[in-house]
Amino acid sequence: MQKNVLILDFGSQYTQLIARRVRELNIYCEIHPFNKLPEDLSVFKAVILSGSPFSCRNPEAPQPDLSNIKGKVPLLGVCFGAQFMAHNYGGEVASSDTREFGRANLSFIKDGEMLFENILEQSQVWMSHSDSIKSIPEHFTRIASTTDVLNAAYKIEGEDTYGIQFHPEVYHSTDGAQLLENFLVKIAKVPQSWTPSAFVDMTVSELKEKIGADKVILGLSGGVDSTVAATLLHKAIGKNLHCIFVNNGLLRKNEFESVLDQYKDMGLNVKGVDATDRFMDALKGISDPEQKRKAIGNSFIEVFDDEASLVEDATFLAQGTIYPDVIESISVNGPSATIKSHHNVGGLPEFMKLKVVEPLRMLFKDEVRRVGAEMGIDSKLLGRHPFPGPGLAIRILGDITKEKVRILQEVDAIFIDGLREWHLYDKVWQAGAILLPVDSVGVMGDERTYEKVVALRAVESTDGMTADWVDLPYNFLQKVSNQIINRVKGVNRVVYDISSKPPATIEWE
Ligand code: XMP
Repeated sequence: MQKNVLILDFGSQYTQLIARRVRELNIYCEIHPFNKLPEDLSVFKAVILSGSPFSCRNPEAPQPDLSNIKGKVPLLGVCFGAQFMAHNYGGEVASSDTREFGRANLSFIKDGEMLFENILEQSQVWMSHSDSIKSIPEHFTRIASTTDVLNAAYKIEGEDTYGIQFHPEVYHSTDGAQLLENFLVKIAKVPQSWTPSAFVDMTVSELKEKIGADKVILGLSGGVDSTVAATLLHKAIGKNLHCIFVNNGLLRKNEFESVLDQYKDMGLNVKGVDATDRFMDALKGISDPEQKRKAIGNSFIEVFDDEASLVEDATFLAQGTIYPDVIESISVNGPSATIKSHHNVGGLPEFMKLKVVEPLRMLFKDEVRRVGAEMGIDSKLLGRHPFPGPGLAIRILGDITKEKVRILQEVDAIFIDGLREWHLYDKVWQAGAILLPVDSVGVMGDERTYEKVVALRAVESTDGMTADWVDLPYNFLQKVSNQIINRVKGVNRVVYDISSKPPATIEWE
């Protein structure tokens, strides 16, 4: 793997964004916590120090050891990173007395400064700090200011070391991408060679070498990550990749059959296992959401293990883990409290004794899609909305029966097909229907009815961590609601969920 840029994380909420911006320049980068430096630093051509929730004056603040970095490779400190260096090398950092949060405009840029090439004075930058660099040490040169922040950017003389108090990674810093490009390409001379096709070539040859003639087992879910992981492995080892696609009976309508066909068309060595009854038995009478997830997770492991043991001499288990999960697990802050512990249930059961291979562990979701497109995977498959592992079980509030699953599948299919027909599907991050555990009164002919209520949910989001409801056209909602009530027996009322996350969540359970 080409190592090019090291991002040292001090716990800022924006660290991942820095990495994404760097990758958008077709430059490979890795995030490492400041207190766990990679062993071999000589492979990196540039280092970026992230921001931090800490003030560098706080005795508890991160104290990175920069002795093998500063002055040896081009170094850019962002926000805390800039303040830390100013503070440590003889400048003064104090709590700021003017507004240093939000948009600001550069009011001074030092002539001829390479970091600001092609960036004009007045360029908008995004500030987010309560400390400010009041004075810089003698061997530092001020290279940019805003009206309120005198030392908005500095350079250390005789080195390629820079500090900036604003956040170039944030969208509101209009020339942020240009600044990162100036630093990485012009100053650090990092090659812009991180492209999907380079990734595919490199990964396929690494997988060939790692796996050799061994057999690999992979659980396909129908989702983007496992599909792209399988395609990469298939390219590397062909039929030695044994894919297992389990129908837990909680997938969307006709999903199992159609996705299985698609996998076969792609040439994957895949076995479809219909374990609906096993899952339904395990779920019988369970209403508690966490218990449902446990029952499904355990049944999945059992079914998967049964199937995997039929593949003789398998030595590897492949997983579709992606970079945000990896960053989360090694983060300075530890696993984030905002992520539900039950996500990505399943994983590798201890007793299987297989070695793990994770070809996507360094990719962001959008990169996974680009890599998938590069390998010719159908855009409809790649553009699919995320779908939770426990499937419709967490969209049926209360206990699960086959009849409830059938009703929800019908409703969901009308909604999702409608989104496609109205060209709304790709504007939405995720959508689905929820079956509520109440009967509502209605009239049909002269009769009163007591039937089910369904809620429709469509959200926009970039990563599922925060989300907002989508303002779908009224006439679309009207049409879909009519179709659902007319066609799905057992449903007499449709509502639309207009809550954002937080404080609500995307799923109802
Ligand atoms: P929430 O409901 O936490 O959902 O806002 C955020 C994202 O995670 C998905 N989700 C799950 N995925 N197992 C999964 O694999 C789960 O138990 C689970 N619960 C929620 C949800 O669909 C959304 O994309």
